[in-house]
Amino acid sequence: MLKLSKLATAVALVVAGSAAVAGEVEVLHYWTSGGEAKSVAELKKIMQAKGHVWKDFAVAGGAGDNAATVLKSRVVSGNPPAAAQIKGPAIQEWAAEGVLANLDATAKAEKWDDLLPKVVADVMKYKGNYVAAPVNVHRVNWMWANSAVLKKAGVTSTPKTWDEFFAAAEKVKKAGLIPVAHGGQNWQDFTTFESVALGVGGTKFYNDALIKLDEKALTSATMTKVLETFRKIKGYTDAAAPGRDWNLATAMVIQEKAAFQFMGDWAKGEFSAAGKVPGKDYICAAAPGTSNAYTFNVDSFAMYKLKDAGAQKAQGDLAASIMGTEFQEVFNLNKGSIPVRLNMKMDKFDDCAKTSAKDFVDTAKSGGLVPSVAHGMAIKPAAEGAIKDAVSQFWNDDKISVADGVKNIAKAAATK
Ligand code: BGC
Repeated sequence: MLKLSKLATAVALVVAGSAAVAGEVEVLHYWTSGGEAKSVAELKKIMQAKGHVWKDFAVAGGAGDNAATVLKSRVVSGNPPAAAQIKGPAIQEWAAEGVLANLDATAKAEKWDDLLPKVVADVMKYKGNYVAAPVNVHRVNWMWANSAVLKKAGVTSTPKTWDEFFAAAEKVKKAGLIPVAHGGQNWQDFTTFESVALGVGGTKFYNDALIKLDEKALTSATMTKVLETFRKIKGYTDAAAPGRDWNLATAMVIQEKAAFQFMGDWAKGEFSAAGKVPGKDYICAAAPGTSNAYTFNVDSFAMYKLKDAGAQKAQGDLAASIMGTEFQEVFNLNKGSIPVRLNMKMDKFDDCAKTSAKDFVDTAKSGGLVPSVAHGMAIKPAAEGAIKDAVSQFWNDDKISVADGVKNIAKAAATK
């Protein structure tokens, strides 16, 4: 009897103990496509296994424009989620508002400084303190191609230059298929645009024009060439492109309706979810002219200050889990990205991911590693928004001359 009651007390203590440390974690994200949803489900599983309650706050909309608007209204009304998927300079802007939590205790215990490339760690910190946890590294300057479509069109090798690309696109068109699957939304327009800028102008031009926003580079002859090339691509898209979501464009390539898509490697998450194999069903290649460069895009969760102790504990566990080896592997296998945590085993990853991991390291040494502007890694949100609008206007309106397009983009870059 005595033994039994002792046991009961012990059980009660354990239950009470775990109840005290478990909490609800509300996570705002925009991962709603097939591959993305599979990826984020892994994080939910890990948090639930730790006894926490996952409150899903998914806001559909590629690249997170809608999510950013919803986040603002929640924070302004004093009711932020525990974590929100934001990145780059936007993290700094939120931190400056004084609403982000300090993650240094977790970061220290988990040795984040040793496990992250410095270029990434710097973005996660505000005034030296960690305020966000990084998830992955996406490469943006990819070109995806359907092997069967290329074969049907008589394209025998993957284009490496823009001239080769247009020759291939012409063949696909003649074969009665859509050369380029595009979704006409401003972040997708810009995803293509920045790959063209990198391919046509090279890393120095990309840095000067799109990151330093240097007026000379923005109005140079190279910029003219970039816009001419960019406009030429539009001629190979279909009439239904305007407004199309990125994953529906990827589906066109998967379903052999279109040959190419310019998109970051979250597109690979869709190919994987559809059971397609790289090197066989589809090709991943650097966008023409960009094989020695790498536009990086690091997804991350900024953590907001919370009052409830259980929620704070859950938030700390979320941050630690995100950087843990288990999550870094399974999430990135589904998402198409590579682990952001250094020294991870890559044996389960496919060749596209292995190329990405190698190129990430190589370009970091050569100077070819540059932040993606399209994906909020490089410049302040206000200028980014203005430039994106100018680029999309040019893309959408064939009556805007290249000279005017150049002027409009340079003007937008001056937005403070
Ligand atoms: C994000 C990816 C996401 C993609 C499409 C990018 O900006 O970094 O995680 O899959 O947008 O929404």
